Amino acid sequence: MTTSLPTTPLGAAGPVVGRIGLGLMGISAFYTGAGQDDAGGARTILGALDRGVTLLDTAEIYGPYANEELLGRTLAESGRRDEVVIATKFGTIRHTGDGGRGLDGSPANLRLSVEGSLRRLQTDRVDLYYQHRMDPGVPIEETVGALADLVAEGKIGGYGLSEAAVDTIRRAHAVHPVTAVQTEYSLWSREPEAELLPALRELGIGFVPYSPLGRGFLTGAIRSVDALAADDFRRDNPRFAGEALDANLRIVEVIEQVAAAAEATPAQVALAWLLAQGEDIVPIPGTRRLDRLDENIAAAGITLTPQQLAQLDAVAPAVGDRYADMTPLNR
Ligand SMILES: NC(=O)c1ccc[n+]([C@@H]2O[C@H](COP(=O)([O-])OP(=O)(O)OC[C@H]3O[C@@H](n4cnc5c(N)ncnc54)[C@H](OP(=O)(O)O)[C@@H]3O)[C@@H](O)[C@H]2O)c1
Repeated sequence: MTTSLPTTPLGAAGPVVGRIGLGLMGISAFYTGAGQDDAGGARTILGALDRGVTLLDTAEIYGPYANEELLGRTLAESGRRDEVVIATKFGTIRHTGDGGRGLDGSPANLRLSVEGSLRRLQTDRVDLYYQHRMDPGVPIEETVGALADLVAEGKIGGYGLSEAAVDTIRRAHAVHPVTAVQTEYSLWSREPEAELLPALRELGIGFVPYSPLGRGFLTGAIRSVDALAADDFRRDNPRFAGEALDANLRIVEVIEQVAAAAEATPAQVALAWLLAQGEDIVPIPGTRRLDRLDENIAAAGITLTPQQLAQLDAVAPAVGDRYADMTPLNR
């Protein structure tokens, strides 16, 4: 298959990547069907490579570990490791303690984390290594100092921060340049526009919107949580709860109207809107399925009219917080 996806540099100094990446989380964790079809997940990963997707997003916490293991196995067996930019994340498992969940940005934890990720990913370097959540107990300068050591040793190509406050990003960037920031951003999560995006542009840091399809909601495929597995993360997410979900369906209605006019699908409209926000934005929609991968990356070929973009810009803000517990975010 020929590569059809355009490319873009991830920030001023980051790698060149396909305009749309692939989020691997749902293959192994948090969503309905996770962990049930590794062969299908591997096919989706390799299909993504065939189509010009190069930024593959995982984390040690996805599974935990199963998602990194699947990616490592798939790339090793196919011999295609060098075609991709592997992004993974640390900082939400305490390897220095009992190995349980918890924030830990200490240099000691970082060392143990990266060695584990390298082993599972069957590679000698992580291309982009994100701190998944900031640790209020460890100054960011200390964590970034240790990350800079890993860059110098060639164990990571660069580092990123996920859900960090603008002030933290500035402090980190002063110690060692940040390659990319990853935060939730989509038609129903527009908080990054006020302060985060302008700051990233000023500093030359790439932006990777996660959950760009609103965890599937913006595609119109989820109209109640009834069809979701009992342990699906979205059942406990305030935006998917009862009246909030009903209110948020008004956002989907607008996306569906624009999709009909643009002769596109709602998922494609949600992604095309994101891509229209700037060349420095590389969304990472997640899917386990090849047909949806095709649908999603075709969004890179869709140009919404100014009227359609304005219609989308005008959607009502989402009802409900992004997480049941918002305290680990934006710090
Ligand atoms: N840094 C962080 O804290 C953080 C947090 C969350 C996620 N992430 C990253 O961001 C990636 C993407 O986010 P996400 O997976 O949470 O949400 P998302 O990309 O907004 O949506 C994924 C969901 O939408 C479904 N879907 C995908 N394409 C579709 C289509 N065309 N039509 C209908 N449904 C579709 C998927 O189901 P199927 O799999 O069944 O297609 C999945 O349930 C993750 O994989 C992960 O790598 C990072």
